[in-house]
Amino acid sequence: MVSVLGRLEVDSRRLVMELVRLAMFSDGVEEAGAEAVDGVAVTRVVFGPADGAARGMVEELAREAGLSVRSDAVGNTFFCWEGTEAGLAAVATGSHIDAIPNAGMYDGTVGVLGAIAAVRALKGSGFQPRRSIEVILFTSEEPTRFGIGCLGSRMLAGVLSSWDAVKLRDQDGLSLEELRVEAGFAGELGEVQVKPGSYAGFVELHIEQGPVLEREGRQIGVVTAIAAPASLRMRVEGEGGHAGAMLMPVRRDALVAAAEIIQAVESAALATGAQDTVATVGMCDVFPGAVNSVPSRVELSLDVRDIELERRDGVLQAIFAACDEVASRRRVKVKREWVNADAPSGCAPEVIAAVESACTAEGVRARRMVSRAYHDTLFMARICPVGMVFVPCLGGVSHRPDEFVAEAEIAAGVRVLARVLAELSSRV
Ligand code: GLV
Ligand code: MN
Ligand code: MN
Repeated sequence: MVSVLGRLEVDSRRLVMELVRLAMFSDGVEEAGAEAVDGVAVTRVVFGPADGAARGMVEELAREAGLSVRSDAVGNTFFCWEGTEAGLAAVATGSHIDAIPNAGMYDGTVGVLGAIAAVRALKGSGFQPRRSIEVILFTSEEPTRFGIGCLGSRMLAGVLSSWDAVKLRDQDGLSLEELRVEAGFAGELGEVQVKPGSYAGFVELHIEQGPVLEREGRQIGVVTAIAAPASLRMRVEGEGGHAGAMLMPVRRDALVAAAEIIQAVESAALATGAQDTVATVGMCDVFPGAVNSVPSRVELSLDVRDIELERRDGVLQAIFAACDEVASRRRVKVKREWVNADAPSGCAPEVIAAVESACTAEGVRARRMVSRAYHDTLFMARICPVGMVFVPCLGGVSHRPDEFVAEAEIAAGVRVLARVLAELSSRV
């Protein structure tokens, strides 16, 4: 740990006010869908009006902190604090500011605004980085618009090629290509991938999104690995008809078949007996969707994750077998389309060690843990050593308006992040 680092003053009051201000940039949700709970409901879809305004606010704060600003063709934005030694690979941090429909105000944003606050604290302490420190605002970590998560970091790491990226369209048929240009991001998508060796390390500050830290009264989670998500679209095709006239024995009801598949998804995940295996059907579109019509077609989303690739793929095979069985017994068709099947990423021992030393220096209670949610770090791990710093959230709640992180917890996370950045950026 660098001994040159003086006392770190984090203005956590200011940071919380900034998080609240950022939360005001929301696309809004339909009243009928909103849950009646405490908290601010945030929906911020990439390249929408709220996303543009929120990006503007972050950019202003970064400039105020003395950082230079640059964006790539997909809208990843880099806020840079120049190091004293030119030519060395930078150390990066950052996260995302897009938010799924009816989300909370801390997921991702703590890692972006918190990183700027960490830079302010480091500057305030008189620290000078040897390697440049970059705060990255990644485009579209959430899959809301284009169906694929971590779009910006995926492209930056070269995991999604520009050939595949140009094929992406949102639900209204608008292409990534036209939307990103309209949002003001010029240049070639082929240039988003960074050159090998661009980064010496990456560390992301994020809320835990689970209950472990709070339950154990710990302030920091030191992430050791990030789960591997696999995601598919499934379509069940049966036969529709009149809900009164079509007799039960001859029905090929697509929704009843889909219901059995959904149950099989749950059973397959539970059958591993591992708490790191999770499987979710989060979307279900029924066609034609009329009270007096037998469903002829159902579209389902499937999301399966695990920290162990083989176990996750075993769950997928069990689900596919169940789909085949349901299809033949109920005389329906089940079609599958892959969205992505990413491999898990381990965090680098040297970054884990830097996070743990920072926790010791700050006197915070920490524990090692895995991340079952995915993050941009999953893709940064393909190009440099990575780590993550988790802070607890109330009740483990996330992706909901009542997501909440206490000011003191955010402050501890920012202080730990600042120390890790100081350490990594001082290394030769
Ligand atoms: C990210 O938001 C995830 O779904 O893990
Ligand atoms: Mn999220
Ligand atoms: Mn997130």
